[in-house]
Amino acid sequence: MNDTPIHYSGPERVFSGVQPSGALHLGNYLGALKKFAVMQHDHECLYCVVDLHAITVPQDPKLLKQQTREIAAAYLAAGVDPKKAIVYNQSRVRGHTELAWYFNCVARIGWLSRMTQFKDKAGKNSEAMSVGLYDYPVLQAADILLFKATHVPVGEDQKQHLELSRDIAAKFNNDFKVPGFFPLPEPMIKGPGARIMSLRDGKAKMSKSDPSDNSRINLTDTPEQMAKKIKKAKSDAGVIPETEKEMDDRPEVQNLVGIYAALADISDQAVLDEFAGQGFGAFKPALADLVVDKLQPVSDLMRRYLSDPEELDRILAAGADRANALAEPILGDIRKVIGFSGA
Ligand code: TRP
Repeated sequence: MNDTPIHYSGPERVFSGVQPSGALHLGNYLGALKKFAVMQHDHECLYCVVDLHAITVPQDPKLLKQQTREIAAAYLAAGVDPKKAIVYNQSRVRGHTELAWYFNCVARIGWLSRMTQFKDKAGKNSEAMSVGLYDYPVLQAADILLFKATHVPVGEDQKQHLELSRDIAAKFNNDFKVPGFFPLPEPMIKGPGARIMSLRDGKAKMSKSDPSDNSRINLTDTPEQMAKKIKKAKSDAGVIPETEKEMDDRPEVQNLVGIYAALADISDQAVLDEFAGQGFGAFKPALADLVVDKLQPVSDLMRRYLSDPEELDRILAAGADRANALAEPILGDIRKVIGFSGA
């Protein structure tokens, strides 16, 4: 392997995944789906529905299948073209589980024990959680590196998992003396819509686990529900300021302005330029109209895709074939590097 470059020199490739666990909201749309659709035009992209990650906590089998289709439908409705990007569900591609095992033998227990998401999810109950939940970030590293993906669009909350992926890639390259074999994947976190917050609390992320449904706009909400939630959203008695700096201690204002900007594809400053001096009585109806305008076509399309589950399954199967074709030669190399007889 004398001619192996020290640094990874393969092509740029984007990988991201969304768990099939419940309803998608505006935060998922702006933070992930919309960006996925944009990126497919100038990158080679794989967008996965991570059903293997979903079973780290108990799932109803019928619901799991339905929710897997829902995420696939949401990808497509947001504009992801399955002929361009590779769209599939994780369990159809066996390489994910195989590589996760190899990485289990590379990752250190100490690394995993520092993962804050596990601690948050497990709470005081960590002894009763599945081993899979603890191991979740290793499977995530396998997802990415199975394709030697170099770029991973994710939310801020996934930063630590991405660091773990980099550590695993670096340790594999180092332990097996194959410098540059795996790339060290980079998170892509920034950009408009990266931090969509709860409509009830500008300091908390918009989340499907928030007990208040008014805290989020679901992709499946009716136009009336969407408009009502925006009008009820927490704001303050002030007016829209002229500069971004003046929003520093007004998280709810920042959030509503940010949502407007991300949906309209303009900067926060452009929103301020348009609305400065106006109160929320004027801004909220404009925002509500924009939300309905941008999200209703997505939810309509999503429903249309969901009305033909066989077609969705065909799309997922075709995506899995393409994913397998990319993964198999990489897995073959990995088996050789590890030293398996038969590889
Ligand atoms: N853990 C990610 C999340 O909860 C989902 C995920 C699984 C993922 N595998 C991935 C994201 C690989 C990016 C790359 O959002």
